[in-house]
Amino acid sequence: MADIFEKLLKNAGPLGQHRERAHGYFAFPKLEGEIGSRMKFRGKDMIVWSLNNYLGLANHPEIRKADADAAAAYGLASPMGARMMSGNTDQHEQLESELASFVFKQDSILMNFGYQGIMSTIDAICGRHDIIVYDAESHACIIDGLRLHPGHRYVFKHNDLEDFEKQMQRATALIEKQKAGGILVITEGVFGMAGDQGKLKEIAALKGKYDFRLLVDDAHGFGTLGKTGAGAGEAQGCQDDIDLYFSTFAKSMASIGAFLAGDKAIIDFIRYNIRSQIFAKSLPMPLVIGNLKRLEMLRTMPELKEKLWSNALKLQAGLKERGFDIGKTDTPVTPVYMIGGVEEATAMVMDLRENYKIFCSIVIYPVIPKGHIIYRLIPTAAHTDADIQETLIAFTETKAKLDAGAYKVEAIPDMAEKK
Ligand SMILES: Cc1ncc(COP(=O)(O)O)c(C=O)c1O
Repeated sequence: MADIFEKLLKNAGPLGQHRERAHGYFAFPKLEGEIGSRMKFRGKDMIVWSLNNYLGLANHPEIRKADADAAAAYGLASPMGARMMSGNTDQHEQLESELASFVFKQDSILMNFGYQGIMSTIDAICGRHDIIVYDAESHACIIDGLRLHPGHRYVFKHNDLEDFEKQMQRATALIEKQKAGGILVITEGVFGMAGDQGKLKEIAALKGKYDFRLLVDDAHGFGTLGKTGAGAGEAQGCQDDIDLYFSTFAKSMASIGAFLAGDKAIIDFIRYNIRSQIFAKSLPMPLVIGNLKRLEMLRTMPELKEKLWSNALKLQAGLKERGFDIGKTDTPVTPVYMIGGVEEATAMVMDLRENYKIFCSIVIYPVIPKGHIIYRLIPTAAHTDADIQETLIAFTETKAKLDAGAYKVEAIPDMAEKK
Protein backbone atom coordinates (compact mmCIF):
# COMPACT_ATOMS: atom_id res chain seq x y z
CA MET A 1 0.00 0.00 0.00
CA ALA A 2 1.25 3.48 -0.88
CA ASP A 3 1.91 6.02 1.84
CA ILE A 4 -0.87 8.53 1.31
CA PHE A 5 1.68 11.36 1.48
CA GLU A 6 3.92 9.87 -1.25
CA LYS A 7 2.06 11.48 -4.16
CA LEU A 8 2.05 14.85 -2.43
CA LEU A 9 5.83 14.86 -2.38
CA LYS A 10 6.08 13.82 -6.05
CA ASN A 11 3.58 16.31 -7.45
CA ALA A 12 3.17 19.67 -5.74
CA GLY A 13 0.19 20.64 -7.93
CA PRO A 14 -0.21 23.12 -10.81
CA LEU A 15 0.79 26.18 -8.79
CA GLY A 16 2.84 24.44 -6.09
CA GLN A 17 5.30 23.22 -8.74
CA HIS A 18 6.63 26.82 -8.95
CA ARG A 19 6.95 27.36 -5.23
CA GLU A 20 10.72 27.02 -4.96
CA ARG A 21 11.20 30.09 -7.16
CA ALA A 22 7.94 31.86 -6.44
CA HIS A 23 7.30 31.61 -2.72
CA GLY A 24 7.20 34.94 -0.95
CA TYR A 25 7.19 36.88 -4.23
CA PHE A 26 4.79 35.68 -6.91
CA ALA A 27 2.93 33.57 -4.36
CA PHE A 28 2.43 34.32 -0.67
CA PRO A 29 4.00 37.83 -0.90
CA LYS A 30 4.12 39.87 2.29
CA LEU A 31 2.74 43.39 1.99
CA GLU A 32 3.69 45.50 4.97
CA GLY A 33 2.61 48.75 6.55
CA GLU A 34 -0.77 50.39 6.94
CA ILE A 35 -3.33 49.11 4.45
CA GLY A 36 -3.74 51.68 1.70
CA SER A 37 -2.87 52.43 -1.89
CA ARG A 38 0.84 52.51 -1.05
CA MET A 39 2.43 49.77 1.01
CA LYS A 40 5.85 48.20 1.42
CA PHE A 41 6.93 45.04 -0.36
CA ARG A 42 10.40 43.70 0.36
CA GLY A 43 11.35 47.07 1.78
CA LYS A 44 10.21 49.10 -1.26
CA ASP A 45 7.17 51.40 -1.50
CA MET A 46 4.61 50.04 -3.96
CA ILE A 47 1.34 51.26 -5.43
CA VAL A 48 -0.93 48.38 -4.48
CA TRP A 49 -3.76 47.22 -6.77
CA SER A 50 -4.48 43.83 -5.32
CA LEU A 51 -6.63 44.50 -2.25
CA ASN A 52 -10.43 44.31 -2.29
CA ASN A 53 -10.51 47.28 0.07
CA TYR A 54 -13.03 48.88 -2.30
CA LEU A 55 -14.27 51.69 -0.06
CA GLY A 56 -10.93 52.30 1.64
CA LEU A 57 -12.38 51.30 5.00
CA ALA A 58 -9.53 48.98 6.04
CA ASN A 59 -7.48 51.75 7.55
CA HIS A 60 -10.11 54.41 8.10
CA PRO A 61 -9.47 56.08 11.50
CA GLU A 62 -13.10 55.56 12.62
CA ILE A 63 -12.90 51.87 11.75
CA ARG A 64 -9.55 51.43 13.46
CA LYS A 65 -10.98 53.06 16.57
CA ALA A 66 -14.19 50.99 16.55
CA ASP A 67 -12.18 47.76 16.12
CA ALA A 68 -9.72 48.70 18.87
CA ASP A 69 -12.43 49.82 21.31
CA ALA A 70 -14.42 46.61 20.77
CA ALA A 71 -11.30 44.46 21.22
CA ALA A 72 -10.47 46.34 24.43
CA ALA A 73 -14.03 45.96 25.75
CA TYR A 74 -14.65 42.32 24.87
CA GLY A 75 -11.34 40.64 23.93
CA LEU A 76 -11.29 38.16 21.07
CA ALA A 77 -12.80 35.25 22.95
CA SER A 78 -16.26 36.67 23.53
CA PRO A 79 -18.78 35.18 23.02
CA MET A 80 -17.77 31.58 23.68
CA GLY A 81 -19.45 28.70 21.90
CA ALA A 82 -21.70 28.40 18.86
CA ARG A 83 -24.62 30.83 18.52
CA MET A 84 -27.13 28.02 19.10
CA MET A 85 -25.54 26.90 22.37
CA SER A 86 -24.01 29.87 24.17
CA GLY A 87 -22.57 32.34 21.65
CA ASN A 88 -25.53 34.53 20.79
CA THR A 89 -25.65 38.26 21.65
CA ASP A 90 -27.85 41.30 21.04
CA GLN A 91 -25.14 42.74 18.82
CA HIS A 92 -25.08 39.65 16.55
CA GLU A 93 -28.84 39.97 16.15
CA GLN A 94 -28.62 43.72 15.60
CA LEU A 95 -26.07 43.25 12.82
CA GLU A 96 -28.30 40.62 11.18
CA SER A 97 -31.28 42.91 11.29
CA GLU A 98 -29.36 45.95 9.96
CA LEU A 99 -27.82 43.90 7.13
CA ALA A 100 -31.25 42.58 6.13
CA SER A 101 -32.66 46.13 5.94
CA PHE A 102 -29.63 47.33 3.99
CA VAL A 103 -30.18 44.73 1.25
CA PHE A 104 -34.00 45.04 1.33
CA LYS A 105 -34.67 41.59 2.82
CA GLN A 106 -36.71 40.47 5.82
CA ASP A 107 -33.94 38.78 7.75
CA SER A 108 -30.34 37.62 7.56
CA ILE A 109 -27.95 35.20 9.21
CA LEU A 110 -24.29 35.83 10.02
CA MET A 111 -21.58 33.46 8.92
CA ASN A 112 -18.01 33.30 10.15
CA PHE A 113 -16.61 32.97 6.62
CA GLY A 114 -18.21 33.38 3.24
CA TYR A 115 -16.54 30.33 1.77
CA GLN A 116 -17.91 27.94 4.37
CA GLY A 117 -21.16 29.86 4.51
CA ILE A 118 -22.04 29.34 0.84
CA MET A 119 -21.04 25.67 0.98
CA SER A 120 -23.08 25.11 4.07
CA THR A 121 -26.09 27.04 2.71
CA ILE A 122 -26.19 24.76 -0.32
CA ASP A 123 -25.91 21.76 1.99
CA ALA A 124 -28.71 23.03 4.24
CA ILE A 125 -31.27 23.77 1.56
CA CYS A 126 -30.72 21.14 -1.14
CA GLY A 127 -31.84 17.53 -0.79
CA ARG A 128 -31.17 14.58 -3.09
CA HIS A 129 -34.13 15.27 -5.39
CA ASP A 130 -33.26 18.94 -5.82
CA ILE A 131 -31.32 20.21 -8.82
CA ILE A 132 -28.77 23.03 -8.86
CA VAL A 133 -28.28 25.06 -12.05
CA TYR A 134 -25.19 27.25 -11.83
CA ASP A 135 -22.91 29.55 -13.83
CA ALA A 136 -19.73 27.94 -15.18
CA GLU A 137 -17.49 30.66 -13.74
CA SER A 138 -18.84 30.38 -10.21
CA HIS A 139 -16.41 30.97 -7.34
CA ALA A 140 -14.65 27.97 -5.79
CA CYS A 141 -16.90 28.11 -2.71
CA ILE A 142 -19.97 27.48 -4.89
CA ILE A 143 -18.21 24.65 -6.69
CA ASP A 144 -17.23 23.12 -3.36
CA GLY A 145 -20.82 23.56 -2.15
CA LEU A 146 -21.93 21.51 -5.15
CA ARG A 147 -19.67 18.72 -3.94
CA LEU A 148 -21.84 18.49 -0.84
CA HIS A 149 -24.99 18.21 -2.94
CA PRO A 150 -26.24 14.64 -3.30
CA GLY A 151 -28.55 15.44 -6.26
CA HIS A 152 -28.07 16.50 -9.87
CA ARG A 153 -26.50 19.73 -11.03
CA TYR A 154 -26.39 21.40 -14.44
CA VAL A 155 -23.88 24.05 -15.39
CA PHE A 156 -24.66 26.83 -17.87
CA LYS A 157 -22.04 28.65 -19.94
CA HIS A 158 -20.98 31.86 -18.24
CA ASN A 159 -23.74 34.49 -18.47
CA ASP A 160 -25.18 32.66 -21.53
CA LEU A 161 -28.97 32.91 -21.33
CA GLU A 162 -29.58 30.51 -24.18
CA ASP A 163 -27.57 27.85 -22.41
CA PHE A 164 -29.20 28.79 -19.11
CA GLU A 165 -32.61 28.03 -20.62
CA LYS A 166 -31.31 24.75 -22.06
CA GLN A 167 -30.12 23.65 -18.62
CA MET A 168 -33.38 24.83 -17.02
CA GLN A 169 -35.33 22.69 -19.47
CA ARG A 170 -33.19 19.65 -18.61
CA ALA A 171 -33.59 20.32 -14.90
CA THR A 172 -37.33 20.89 -15.19
CA ALA A 173 -37.79 17.66 -17.18
CA LEU A 174 -35.89 15.68 -14.56
CA ILE A 175 -37.89 17.16 -11.69
CA GLU A 176 -41.12 16.25 -13.52
CA LYS A 177 -39.86 12.72 -14.09
CA GLN A 178 -38.79 12.32 -10.45
CA LYS A 179 -42.05 13.85 -9.26
CA ALA A 180 -39.99 15.36 -6.46
CA GLY A 181 -37.55 18.17 -5.79
CA GLY A 182 -37.09 21.77 -6.87
CA ILE A 183 -34.49 23.90 -8.65
CA LEU A 184 -31.93 26.26 -7.10
CA VAL A 185 -30.14 28.62 -9.51
CA ILE A 186 -26.79 29.96 -8.29
CA THR A 187 -24.86 32.79 -9.85
CA GLU A 188 -22.82 35.80 -8.82
CA GLY A 189 -23.58 39.51 -8.71
CA VAL A 190 -20.07 40.30 -9.96
CA PHE A 191 -17.59 37.79 -11.33
CA GLY A 192 -14.43 38.64 -9.48
CA MET A 193 -11.89 37.81 -12.20
CA ALA A 194 -13.45 39.49 -15.25
CA GLY A 195 -15.49 42.10 -13.37
CA ASP A 196 -18.66 41.50 -15.38
CA GLN A 197 -21.99 41.43 -13.55
CA GLY A 198 -24.09 38.27 -13.51
CA LYS A 199 -27.19 38.55 -15.70
CA LEU A 200 -29.46 38.68 -12.69
CA LYS A 201 -32.24 40.72 -14.26
CA GLU A 202 -32.49 38.44 -17.28
CA ILE A 203 -32.37 35.29 -15.15
CA ALA A 204 -34.97 36.71 -12.76
CA ALA A 205 -37.22 37.53 -15.72
CA LEU A 206 -37.33 33.79 -16.53
CA LYS A 207 -38.93 33.03 -13.17
CA GLY A 208 -42.34 33.12 -14.87
CA LYS A 209 -41.23 30.56 -17.44
CA TYR A 210 -39.41 28.17 -15.09
CA ASP A 211 -39.87 27.33 -11.45
CA PHE A 212 -36.75 28.07 -9.43
CA ARG A 213 -35.25 29.94 -6.51
CA LEU A 214 -32.27 32.25 -7.01
CA LEU A 215 -29.17 32.40 -4.79
CA VAL A 216 -26.72 35.22 -5.62
CA ASP A 217 -23.17 35.49 -4.29
CA ASP A 218 -22.58 39.25 -4.43
CA ALA A 219 -19.19 39.35 -2.72
CA HIS A 220 -17.88 42.10 -5.02
CA GLY A 221 -21.18 43.93 -5.56
CA PHE A 222 -22.15 44.54 -1.93
CA GLY A 223 -21.17 48.10 -1.01
CA THR A 224 -19.91 48.90 -4.51
CA LEU A 225 -23.01 48.66 -6.75
CA GLY A 226 -26.53 50.04 -6.64
CA LYS A 227 -27.84 53.42 -5.56
CA THR A 228 -27.53 52.64 -1.85
CA GLY A 229 -24.73 50.09 -2.16
CA ALA A 230 -27.06 47.11 -1.77
CA GLY A 231 -25.31 45.43 -4.67
CA ALA A 232 -25.82 44.01 -8.14
CA GLY A 233 -29.53 43.21 -7.60
CA GLU A 234 -30.22 46.83 -6.70
CA ALA A 235 -28.09 48.06 -9.62
CA GLN A 236 -30.08 45.88 -12.03
CA GLY A 237 -33.46 46.59 -10.44
CA CYS A 238 -34.19 42.99 -9.48
CA GLN A 239 -33.26 42.73 -5.79
CA ASP A 240 -36.75 41.45 -4.93
CA ASP A 241 -36.30 38.49 -7.28
CA ILE A 242 -33.18 37.31 -5.47
CA ASP A 243 -34.44 34.74 -2.97
CA LEU A 244 -31.15 34.40 -1.12
CA TYR A 245 -28.66 37.24 -1.20
CA PHE A 246 -25.13 36.53 0.03
CA SER A 247 -22.07 38.66 0.65
CA THR A 248 -18.80 38.33 2.48
CA PHE A 249 -17.45 41.12 4.71
CA ALA A 250 -13.99 40.47 3.24
CA LYS A 251 -14.23 43.06 0.47
CA SER A 252 -16.04 46.42 0.69
CA MET A 253 -16.37 45.96 4.48
CA ALA A 254 -12.63 45.18 4.84
CA SER A 255 -13.32 42.71 7.61
CA ILE A 256 -14.10 39.03 8.21
CA GLY A 257 -17.42 37.22 8.17
CA ALA A 258 -20.36 37.03 5.79
CA PHE A 259 -24.14 37.02 5.71
CA LEU A 260 -27.07 35.49 3.88
CA ALA A 261 -30.35 37.42 3.58
CA GLY A 262 -33.84 36.43 2.48
CA ASP A 263 -37.38 35.80 3.67
CA LYS A 264 -37.67 35.38 7.43
CA ALA A 265 -39.07 31.84 7.36
CA ILE A 266 -36.29 30.62 5.07
CA ILE A 267 -33.51 32.33 7.02
CA ASP A 268 -34.99 30.85 10.21
CA PHE A 269 -34.80 27.38 8.65
CA ILE A 270 -31.19 27.98 7.64
CA ARG A 271 -30.32 29.34 11.09
CA TYR A 272 -31.37 26.02 12.62
CA ASN A 273 -29.85 23.83 9.89
CA ILE A 274 -26.59 25.39 8.69
CA ARG A 275 -23.91 23.02 9.91
CA SER A 276 -20.92 25.39 9.49
CA GLN A 277 -22.49 27.79 12.00
CA ILE A 278 -24.24 25.36 14.33
CA PHE A 279 -21.04 23.41 14.90
CA ALA A 280 -18.63 26.37 15.00
CA LYS A 281 -17.82 29.17 17.41
CA SER A 282 -19.74 32.40 17.03
CA LEU A 283 -18.22 35.39 15.20
CA PRO A 284 -16.07 37.23 17.82
CA MET A 285 -17.54 40.41 19.30
CA PRO A 286 -14.91 42.86 17.91
CA LEU A 287 -15.80 41.65 14.41
CA VAL A 288 -19.53 42.04 15.04
CA ILE A 289 -19.14 45.54 16.47
CA GLY A 290 -16.58 46.44 13.80
CA ASN A 291 -18.99 45.25 11.10
CA LEU A 292 -21.83 47.30 12.61
CA LYS A 293 -19.58 50.36 12.32
CA ARG A 294 -18.63 49.50 8.73
CA LEU A 295 -22.27 49.06 7.76
CA GLU A 296 -23.10 52.44 9.30
CA MET A 297 -20.37 53.99 7.14
CA LEU A 298 -21.69 52.25 4.01
CA ARG A 299 -25.10 53.76 4.80
CA THR A 300 -24.01 57.25 5.73
CA MET A 301 -20.95 57.94 3.58
CA PRO A 302 -21.96 57.61 -0.08
CA GLU A 303 -18.87 59.64 -0.94
CA LEU A 304 -16.76 56.50 -0.40
CA LYS A 305 -18.58 54.64 -3.18
CA GLU A 306 -18.45 57.75 -5.37
CA LYS A 307 -14.66 58.01 -4.91
CA LEU A 308 -14.26 54.29 -5.68
CA TRP A 309 -16.20 54.71 -8.93
CA SER A 310 -14.42 57.90 -9.92
CA ASN A 311 -11.06 56.12 -9.48
CA ALA A 312 -12.27 52.98 -11.26
CA LEU A 313 -13.57 54.94 -14.25
CA LYS A 314 -10.36 57.01 -14.50
CA LEU A 315 -8.21 53.88 -14.42
CA GLN A 316 -10.40 52.00 -16.91
CA ALA A 317 -10.67 54.97 -19.32
CA GLY A 318 -6.90 55.49 -19.13
CA LEU A 319 -6.21 51.85 -19.93
CA LYS A 320 -8.68 51.83 -22.82
CA GLU A 321 -7.24 55.06 -24.28
CA ARG A 322 -3.83 53.42 -24.26
CA GLY A 323 -5.17 50.46 -26.21
CA PHE A 324 -5.40 47.91 -23.39
CA ASP A 325 -8.00 45.17 -23.50
CA ILE A 326 -9.99 45.27 -20.25
CA GLY A 327 -12.71 42.91 -21.43
CA LYS A 328 -16.30 43.21 -20.31
CA THR A 329 -15.98 44.73 -16.87
CA ASP A 330 -18.85 46.95 -15.76
CA THR A 331 -17.70 47.13 -12.15
CA PRO A 332 -14.54 48.44 -10.42
CA VAL A 333 -12.76 45.07 -10.96
CA THR A 334 -10.28 45.84 -13.75
CA PRO A 335 -8.71 42.96 -15.63
CA VAL A 336 -6.01 43.73 -18.21
CA TYR A 337 -5.73 40.95 -20.76
CA MET A 338 -2.40 40.21 -22.43
CA ILE A 339 -0.85 37.40 -24.39
CA GLY A 340 2.23 35.60 -23.07
CA GLY A 341 3.54 32.54 -21.27
CA VAL A 342 3.75 31.93 -17.54
CA GLU A 343 7.48 32.75 -17.50
CA GLU A 344 6.97 36.01 -19.43
CA ALA A 345 4.13 37.01 -17.12
CA THR A 346 6.29 36.54 -14.06
CA ALA A 347 9.21 38.45 -15.61
CA MET A 348 6.85 41.33 -16.39
CA VAL A 349 5.43 41.32 -12.88
CA MET A 350 8.96 41.44 -11.53
CA ASP A 351 9.77 44.45 -13.72
CA LEU A 352 6.52 46.14 -12.60
CA ARG A 353 7.43 45.60 -8.94
CA GLU A 354 11.16 46.20 -9.01
CA ASN A 355 11.39 49.10 -11.47
CA TYR A 356 7.96 50.71 -11.57
CA LYS A 357 6.83 50.01 -7.96
CA ILE A 358 3.50 48.63 -9.09
CA PHE A 359 2.08 45.70 -7.13
CA CYS A 360 -0.82 43.89 -8.79
CA SER A 361 -2.00 40.30 -9.03
CA ILE A 362 -1.51 38.11 -12.08
CA VAL A 363 -3.71 35.27 -13.17
CA ILE A 364 -2.04 32.66 -15.35
CA TYR A 365 -2.32 29.05 -16.52
CA PRO A 366 -3.82 26.77 -15.15
CA VAL A 367 -6.40 29.24 -13.76
CA ILE A 368 -6.87 30.57 -17.32
CA PRO A 369 -5.86 28.96 -20.67
CA LYS A 370 -2.17 28.66 -21.61
CA GLY A 371 -0.69 31.69 -23.35
CA HIS A 372 -2.98 34.20 -21.68
CA ILE A 373 -2.18 36.58 -18.83
CA ILE A 374 -4.59 38.65 -16.78
CA TYR A 375 -3.30 41.49 -14.65
CA ARG A 376 -6.04 42.18 -12.14
CA LEU A 377 -6.30 45.69 -10.76
CA ILE A 378 -8.66 46.58 -7.93
CA PRO A 379 -9.14 50.33 -7.67
CA THR A 380 -10.32 51.58 -4.29
CA ALA A 381 -11.53 54.82 -2.74
CA ALA A 382 -8.06 55.11 -1.18
CA HIS A 383 -6.22 55.48 -4.52
CA THR A 384 -5.11 58.89 -5.79
CA ASP A 385 -4.79 60.43 -9.25
CA ALA A 386 -1.01 60.08 -8.93
CA ASP A 387 -1.40 56.33 -8.25
CA ILE A 388 -3.48 56.00 -11.42
CA GLN A 389 -1.19 58.08 -13.63
CA GLU A 390 1.99 56.28 -12.51
CA THR A 391 0.30 52.95 -13.11
CA LEU A 392 -0.86 53.87 -16.60
CA ILE A 393 2.69 54.89 -17.55
CA ALA A 394 4.09 51.67 -16.05
CA PHE A 395 1.62 49.51 -17.95
CA THR A 396 2.29 51.32 -21.24
CA GLU A 397 6.04 50.85 -20.91
CA THR A 398 5.97 47.23 -19.72
CA LYS A 399 3.41 46.21 -22.37
CA ALA A 400 5.74 47.60 -25.07
CA LYS A 401 8.55 45.49 -23.60
CA LEU A 402 6.29 42.42 -23.51
CA ASP A 403 5.36 42.90 -27.18
CA ALA A 404 9.03 43.33 -28.08
CA GLY A 405 9.84 39.99 -26.44
CA ALA A 406 11.89 41.57 -23.65
CA TYR A 407 10.43 39.26 -21.01
CA LYS A 408 11.13 35.99 -22.80
CA VAL A 409 12.93 33.97 -20.16
CA GLU A 410 13.55 30.25 -19.82
CA ALA A 411 12.08 29.90 -16.36
CA ILE A 412 10.19 31.81 -13.74
CA PRO A 413 12.69 34.25 -12.17
CA ASP A 414 13.92 32.88 -8.85
CA MET A 415 12.57 35.44 -6.41
CA ALA A 416 11.83 33.09 -3.51
CA GLU A 417 12.37 34.40 -0.04
CA LYS A 418 15.73 33.13 1.22
CA LYS A 419 15.59 32.27 4.89
C1 LIG B 1 -17.35 35.48 -4.96
C2 LIG B 1 -16.83 35.10 -3.61
N1 LIG B 1 -17.59 34.36 -2.79
C3 LIG B 1 -17.15 33.98 -1.58
C4 LIG B 1 -15.91 34.33 -1.12
C5 LIG B 1 -15.44 33.81 0.21
O1 LIG B 1 -15.64 34.72 1.22
P1 LIG B 1 -14.76 34.67 2.57
O2 LIG B 1 -13.44 35.31 2.26
O3 LIG B 1 -15.59 35.44 3.54
O4 LIG B 1 -14.60 33.23 2.95
C6 LIG B 1 -15.08 35.12 -1.92
C7 LIG B 1 -13.74 35.56 -1.45
O5 LIG B 1 -13.54 36.21 -0.47
C8 LIG B 1 -15.55 35.52 -3.21
O6 LIG B 1 -14.80 36.26 -4.02
